[in-house]
Amino acid sequence: MASKRVYIETFGCQMNELDSELVSGQLRALGYQFTPDPKSAEVVLYNTCSVREHAEQKVWSRLGEMAIRKKEDPSLVVGVLGCLAERDGESLIRRMPVVDVLVGPAELDKLPALLDNAVRTNVSLAENPPEDANNPGENRVVSARQVALQGTASRRSATLAAAEDSLEMLDLSRAVSPIDAQASTSRSAYVRITRGCNKFCTYCVVPFTRGAEIHRPPEHIIEECRRLADAGVIEITLLGQTVNHYRFEHGAAVTVNGVKQPQKGRSFAGGHRRDPFAGESTTTFADLLAEIHEQVPGIQRLRFVTSYPRDFGDDVLEVIRDHPRICRYLHVPAQSGSDRILKMMNRGYTVGEYLDFVDRARSFLHQPEKGRPLGLSGDFIVGFPTETDEDFRATYELLQRVRYKNSFIFKYSPRPGTTAFDRLVDDVPEAVKRRRNGELLALQNVVAEAVAREHIGATFDVFIEGPSRKEAKKRKTSRSGGLVSLTIGGQDAAEPYCAPALEEPAEVDSMQYCGRTDTDLIVFFDLPQGSPDPSGTFARVRIESVRALSLYGRLA
Ligand code: SAH
Ligand code: SF4
Ligand code: F3S
Repeated sequence: MASKRVYIETFGCQMNELDSELVSGQLRALGYQFTPDPKSAEVVLYNTCSVREHAEQKVWSRLGEMAIRKKEDPSLVVGVLGCLAERDGESLIRRMPVVDVLVGPAELDKLPALLDNAVRTNVSLAENPPEDANNPGENRVVSARQVALQGTASRRSATLAAAEDSLEMLDLSRAVSPIDAQASTSRSAYVRITRGCNKFCTYCVVPFTRGAEIHRPPEHIIEECRRLADAGVIEITLLGQTVNHYRFEHGAAVTVNGVKQPQKGRSFAGGHRRDPFAGESTTTFADLLAEIHEQVPGIQRLRFVTSYPRDFGDDVLEVIRDHPRICRYLHVPAQSGSDRILKMMNRGYTVGEYLDFVDRARSFLHQPEKGRPLGLSGDFIVGFPTETDEDFRATYELLQRVRYKNSFIFKYSPRPGTTAFDRLVDDVPEAVKRRRNGELLALQNVVAEAVAREHIGATFDVFIEGPSRKEAKKRKTSRSGGLVSLTIGGQDAAEPYCAPALEEPAEVDSMQYCGRTDTDLIVFFDLPQGSPDPSGTFARVRIESVRALSLYGRLA
């Protein structure tokens, strides 16, 4: 059964990208093969996102296409994984009977068993198809219906301390294979440190789809980083919905079969200093960063996303300042610049507190004179229920004041199951949302260009991702997985706030490459024709100009 060809498509955030990588590794180990072509696949998996309606619509349209295909080939197995599976639950199968396998993000460890069952069932259904009672002569589309959802009621937490957390085994089982030195994309990896979210912002599905906040044992995280580094990875991004809320209490740790279990998030006041209740037996987020930096020197760049504004202690900022391989890049969504709206969003901070954080972060980390500026990026939601022009003006001013290098800007999308959906009327007209979205984007572009210009004349280490898009076209090569993504940031690749469309062509006798600074700015530079491919290594580049929000430079 397991020699089936699988196609997997991933929507949504980095957490989903990592999940897809982990389940793919697990399926590969069982003998499944992977294909980049959905048409030739016998198993089609969608790892879905539910954060906005738009994200879900993409999946619905894919499922529509699969329903047509399955009529011709009933042995096809279709699986919906991830946040939409969890949010919509079994009603998803009622709406889309083509779906055989439904697995929520907290149950992904169960995928191999469910998939195996579905493959067996569908093969036998294909051999002996039941007739459609409504359309005699036609085969009925029958689903094998393999379902694993955590169910929002349990929020998984009830069982966690007592039982082995099998999801942790999925992270631990990560297949790490030695890396092809030329494949820059695989020199960069995600490592999860926290799962789930306890913040319950009123608009957000994540606490429902991903469940309660759970912190992985630091030993597991460091070991994973070490294995990745040994295999050739040089850039690691630590992942968590509120990544800087990480905290592990060793004294309270539970061990099952010799394996330390992840731990439920406990509330602690982030505060400005090291948490006074964090004793020697606690690993705080600051401790974790310092330990990875110290114990895994092969990692040249250590990043983390996404940070929660209220949880940044000075201890974290100090650790970033004092450890050269930790990137001075913080993704800290503000969501709104209006205190009234922030309160309705249940974000737990005021604009004043957010700005205090930005000032603190700058005073610790913004040292352009030492060649070490701080890069900030943010998220905003426009058109949250009751948002007035005045509220929006406040958001506009906040964006201007903070000077993000980039922001992800979203129109409010009511999500079933959230407090905002239940209690607030989505009363800002679509046209107003669109206008505010456009205005904020235009401002962000002006700010981004000004921030980029400040880099002119300075020299930076650039992690080379590969030939630029123009260069790749010029060579007409399609490096599998090696093409450079031109979106800045990377939280929601389908909705980049800008992609530098006006990328300058490389000189005829040179090759154009593209990479990133440690603050995540995109840099283009030329190498002489015939130079060995530098992808996956670092170059010192002196920035000479800014075009279409990207930096252009020369080897220093
Ligand atoms: N944990 C991260 C964000 C995860 S969701 C944090 O708290 O910062 C990614 C982004 O999607 C959010 O920052 C928010 O800007 C946006 N978002 C979430 N729910 C949304 C909704 N219902 N409508 C529009 N945007 C939303
Ligand atoms: Fe959603 Fe808020 Fe949690 Fe971020 S912190 S994932 S926006 S609930
Ligand atoms: Fe989407 Fe789930 Fe990530 S809703 S943004 S895939 S946590």
